[in-house]
Amino acid sequence: MKIIDGKLLAEELNKDLARKNLLFKQKFHKKPYLAVVLVGDNAASSIYVKNKEKQANIVGIESEVINLNKNVSEKELLDVIESLNKNNKVDGILVQLPLPNHIDSKNVIDNINPDKDVDGFNARNVGLLAMGIPKVIPCTPLGCYKMLENITNLEGKKIAVLGRSNIVGKPLAYLLTNKNATVTLIHSKSKGIKEICMNSDIIVAAIGKPKFVKHTWVHKKSIVIDVGINVISERGRRKIVGDVDFEKTFSKVRAISPVPGGVGPMTIHCLLLNTYNLAYLKVNL
Ligand code: GUN
Repeated sequence: MKIIDGKLLAEELNKDLARKNLLFKQKFHKKPYLAVVLVGDNAASSIYVKNKEKQANIVGIESEVINLNKNVSEKELLDVIESLNKNNKVDGILVQLPLPNHIDSKNVIDNINPDKDVDGFNARNVGLLAMGIPKVIPCTPLGCYKMLENITNLEGKKIAVLGRSNIVGKPLAYLLTNKNATVTLIHSKSKGIKEICMNSDIIVAAIGKPKFVKHTWVHKKSIVIDVGINVISERGRRKIVGDVDFEKTFSKVRAISPVPGGVGPMTIHCLLLNTYNLAYLKVNL
């Protein structure tokens, strides 16, 4: 296998999730319910949110998008979250990031009821993951993990995670460590990045820089997961590329995930899976 086809894997997993949602509805007479809060009109965020809604509908999850003006105050946003926290029909709450600069994202995330925090971003859920007893695992790291475990045993593997964001790099490092991999978390101040990558079995690139990982950083047994979504202009045309120089790297590795069609569809699958799991936990309380 060369291409790690996240789209295909997500389609298979979504079929299984659709079956679970059908059984859920038959048993509890409601669908799992996801509320997405979108502040402003960031083009990329709007596209993500539309994709999430479309997939939710396909797998049998009810979803609602709450659009708020980019000038909304933090207090008004917190009031919306409070009403979603209290609303018994809502199982999962997602506040699309990034938020406008005048809003304290950390405060907003920490005001989501941890039992409805479908992203797994609030302090309690991050803490549980760090302790190895997770309740909700952030969607992109979970998607990366599912792609990797589908092709290899992770125990004892050396994994270079590039990028220490709270959304991907840090939670992924916790998750892979919990699965007995040996993780090196690389960031903007790291030294000897090329050597660390060359010495790793697996590279996960989540650094947000187009074509950052070079073909000279990999070997023929490398497995590469590309989390990046960067818009560049190439020969006058807009193009979406990942954090890995895919064209040059593809022929040099054992397996690599493409952009698009790699991590993106898996992230959405994991969001919907998390929604189902939170709904299921709630009805079984
Ligand atoms: N923005 C980019 N990725 C994500 C994500 O996984 N969750 C949220 N809430 N916002 C994002």
